[in-house]
Formats: sequence, structure tokens, C-alpha cells
Amino acid sequence: MAHDARQAHLLELRQQAQLGGGKARQDAQHKRGKLTARERVDLLLDPGSFQELDAFVEHRCADFGMKDKAVLGDGVITGHGTVEGRRVFVFSQDFTVFGGSLSGAYAAKICKIMDMALKVGAPVIGLNDSGGARIQEGVESLGGYADIFLRNTLASGVVPQISAILGPCAGGAVYSPAITDFTAMVDETSYLYVTGPNVVKTVTNEEVTHTELGGAEVHTEVSGVAHFVRPDDAACLELVRQLLGYLPSNNQEDPPRRPCDDPVDRADPELDSLLPDSNDKPYDMLDVVRRVVDQDSLLEVHADHAKNIVIGFARLGGRPVGVIGNQPNHLSGVLDIKASIKAARFVRFCDCFNVPLLTFVDVPGFLPGRDQEYGGIIKHGAKLLYAYCEATVPKLTVITRKAYGGAYDVMSSKHIRGDFNIAWPTAEIAVMGAKGAVEIIFRREIEAAADPAAEAARLTADYERTFCNPYAAAKLGYVDAVVLPHETRAQLIRALDCLGTKREQNPPKKHGNIPL
Ligand code: HXC
Repeated sequence: MAHDARQAHLLELRQQAQLGGGKARQDAQHKRGKLTARERVDLLLDPGSFQELDAFVEHRCADFGMKDKAVLGDGVITGHGTVEGRRVFVFSQDFTVFGGSLSGAYAAKICKIMDMALKVGAPVIGLNDSGGARIQEGVESLGGYADIFLRNTLASGVVPQISAILGPCAGGAVYSPAITDFTAMVDETSYLYVTGPNVVKTVTNEEVTHTELGGAEVHTEVSGVAHFVRPDDAACLELVRQLLGYLPSNNQEDPPRRPCDDPVDRADPELDSLLPDSNDKPYDMLDVVRRVVDQDSLLEVHADHAKNIVIGFARLGGRPVGVIGNQPNHLSGVLDIKASIKAARFVRFCDCFNVPLLTFVDVPGFLPGRDQEYGGIIKHGAKLLYAYCEATVPKLTVITRKAYGGAYDVMSSKHIRGDFNIAWPTAEIAVMGAKGAVEIIFRREIEAAADPAAEAARLTADYERTFCNPYAAAKLGYVDAVVLPHETRAQLIRALDCLGTKREQNPPKKHGNIPL
């Protein structure tokens, strides 16, 4: 072949590789409200930054008529590009090619970019839209999944890994997103489950739809498997870009600092009157958080799951922080199994990736009851305790109101290496609420009193005066300062500046044994 014919052949192959499973299947993808694998990559990355790899890889299967059915690229688009100028690696599963199902060759493409991402220290973004293991390939496909799971695990805590679920993700395939740090789903068009409706029907005789079994609502509200839901592919990919803006590229970098227009000493007077007069009335902790952090910087994570605790990323003076806050608006902000697990994983993520922790405390304690005890609140609550204890990133804590009992210790207290712990004048740092305390320690005196109700009220007021304030803790140095609410932002930013050079290490070990 002459040179120009060879070059023309390459251009032809390139064009062919762009087509995926063909126009008809791409149209079907659009009809379902989904973008194609390439359109997704284009939306995710900065324009013109995508460097594709392995566009000519084909599957190696000869069985079941597959010999004549090779497609260039084999159903997954892989490579790297930039998001806001920072390098990321990406794979995008192409549902138009054998339903996006995973072959050995396809898995090898994903593994190649994961290995490169680890070498150069850049995040991995997985865009999932697949019918699972390539059924014609059998065990080679299963091996391919395991190769990916291993890399997900080795990369965990080294580079951020984010999964977007933009179609089906079923069977063992779900375990890759599950190991990654964050999972985002699209409403209506995505689902995640270990076994689909047909298998469920066969095994349990239960009739369920794809969405009922593993749709976005199920996983963002009930199971907590997914952290975000967005209405369509474009919004989901925009979320991934936004999320990356808070994260370092790897565990040896600090998260990216941005210029901050919001004055560091901004004192929001509304904060001073934000808490209700009575300590058993609810308020929205997100309202507190938004007034303290840089304007419009809060990205809530897991917003619909275990709402009694809020978590998210925000910025303070331009620096990313991970925010954790008890939410008095939901179940009084009590710590239960789901809330403990939700917050614990987030704390550990932040600690892996050098994101300082900012904790807002208003917690009446752990949720009592048989369900919680049978469900293992002891070990799940211990996850959160463990996560805070082992975290060595800067830890800032603001006690707005209740910090009762074991939950006081858990929520980034001074005792577990909180670096800067402040309390508002409304803080109540005590073993328990005054009413409960008085009923226990003065039961006899109350029973013997001429007017038991009046005596209980008097003793309760006395207990409140003595313990339900921040000063008993301040006297012991268990809080570093008692501050007016409007002073909070400036104090936190000053503390974060000071902690910029923090160095703290845990004892050398292979790894700890977090109560799983
Ligand atoms: C090969 C597959 C496939 C698969 C779909 N296709 N899944 N090819 N292996 N796993 C092909 C179809 O033959 C079809 O080809 C095209 O992809 C689109 O599929 P449809 O069924 O027409 O699409 P839809 O109606 O949207 O249904 C999507 C689906 C369904 C729900 C994902 O295809 C399905 O149930 N697939 C099988 C899912 C599954 O059981 N996978 C194995 C799970 S076990 P044509 O040529 O007609 O376009 C597993 C183990 C992993 O994954 C273990 C890891 C440890």
C-alpha cells in the first residue's frame, strides 16, 4: 500500500471507531434520554483535552458467532483529559456495543488507564452503562471484573475515584462503583443491583421493577449506596466536575485552593439569633453551615440519606473543607446506624485526601431502642468514633447546642485530637439533658418532696445552670474558646490558616481494624 493509502486507511479506521454500535443504537440511546459514551466524555472533560487510548482494541472471543462481530474499541472508551485544567483518567462504557457488556479486552483497557492514573497520581472517573459480564465470554469477563476490583482497591486512598451510573449496572459489576469514593446516579435512567428483577422473581417470587429494586431514589435515600442524584446525564457529569473542584489529584497533594471573594472576617449577624429559644426546638444546621462557609461553596453529599446528619464539601477562605453536622431538623440530630456509617465514610475520605474536617455539633446522643441495638449501633457508632480518632487532617469543631454523652466524645471532641474546638454560648456540653439527669440522680428527693413536679423543675433548672452550658468544658480546656455565633467564620479561617502546616502521624501499622 502506498503511504497515502495507508494514511487513508488509518483515517477510515478512526472514523469506524467513532461509530460504536452504530447509528440506530445511538438513536435508541438518545430516545431513552441518555447520551452516547463519547458525548459523555466530551461533556465531562475540558473541550479538546481528551486523549483516547486503545481505540482499536477488539474482543478476543470466537464463540457464539462473536468472531465476526468485533467492534473497534469493544464497547468502552478510555483515556485521559482535563477538568478545569487538571488531569483525570476516564472510562466510558458504550451501551450501543453488546449492551456495554464487559469482555476481557474491555477490562484490560480500563485496567490500563487505572494503572496509569495511579502512576501519575490523577483521579479515575468511571461512566457506567453496561449489561454486566459479556455473556459470550464467560469466565474471562469475570476475571476482567476482578482485575478492576483489585485496582479500585489499590487505588483507594491514593487517587480519588468517582463513579457515575448512567444506565444499567448489574451483577458483580456494582462492586466497582461500591469501592470507589463517590457514586452519582441519574434519575429514571440508571439502576444498580446485584441481581435483577428476573432473578428476584425466581428466587423470592417477588415482583419488582428495575427502578424499585435499584433506581436512584432507592440508592440515594434508602440504601445509601449512591451519594448524588441528578435529573439527566449532563447534570450528572457537571456534578462530577464540580466535585473534582474540592479534591486533590492524589493523596500527596493538598486540595485545590481558590481565590475567595467572601471576606474572611464576614460576621453574619443572623447567626446570633438563628437558634430557637427552646433547646428542644429544631432548626436547620445547613442554614448555620451556609452562613459560616464561603458564599455558595457548599456541595451537600448524600443529601437524601440519613438526614439526621449532613455532610458535604465547602470552602473556608478558599480552602476546601469536609463539613459534618448533626441536623436538629431531622430526628433531633440523633446519631443512629445510618448516620454513623454515612459520616464515618466521609470522614475517612477527607482524611485520605488531606481535606480538613469542619464539624458542627448539636447532638442529643445515640438513638436508643431495640432496632438500633439489634442492628449493631455499637459497632456502627464505633465506625464514626474510629474515623474521627484516626483522622490526622486539621479538625475544627463548633458546638452550637447539645453535645451530650458519648456523642460529645465522638463528634470530633478535643479528646480525640480536635485541633480547634469552639462552642457558642448556647452550647450544652453534658452527660445528658437536664431533665433526664435529674430524674436519675434525684429520683428519691423528687418522690419525697411535697410537690414532686415543682421540686423536679427546681432541680432541673439547677442542673441546667451548672452543666448545660459551655463553661464547665471551657474551664477544663475541653473547648478552646466560647465565641459569639457571628465570630465563628473568622475564628475558623484563622484556625485553618494556623493548621496549614499541621503534621500528625499515627503509629506505623499495616492498617487498622475499623469495626466493619
Ligand atoms: C452480552 C449483552 C449483555 C451481556 C446486553 N447485551 N447485556 N450482550 N452480554 N451481558 C446486548 C443484548 O444482546 C442487545 O444486543 C444489547 O446488548 C442491548 O440489550 P437489550 O436487552 O436489548 O437492552 P435493554 O432492553 O435495554 O436491557 C438492558 C439489560 C438487559 C437490562 C441490561 O440487556 C439485560 O438484562 N442484560 C443481561 C444482564 C445480565 O444478566 N448480565 C450478566 C450479569 S452477571 P443487540 O445486538 O440486540 O443490540 C454479571 C456478573 C458480573 O455481570 C460479575 C462480576 C464479578
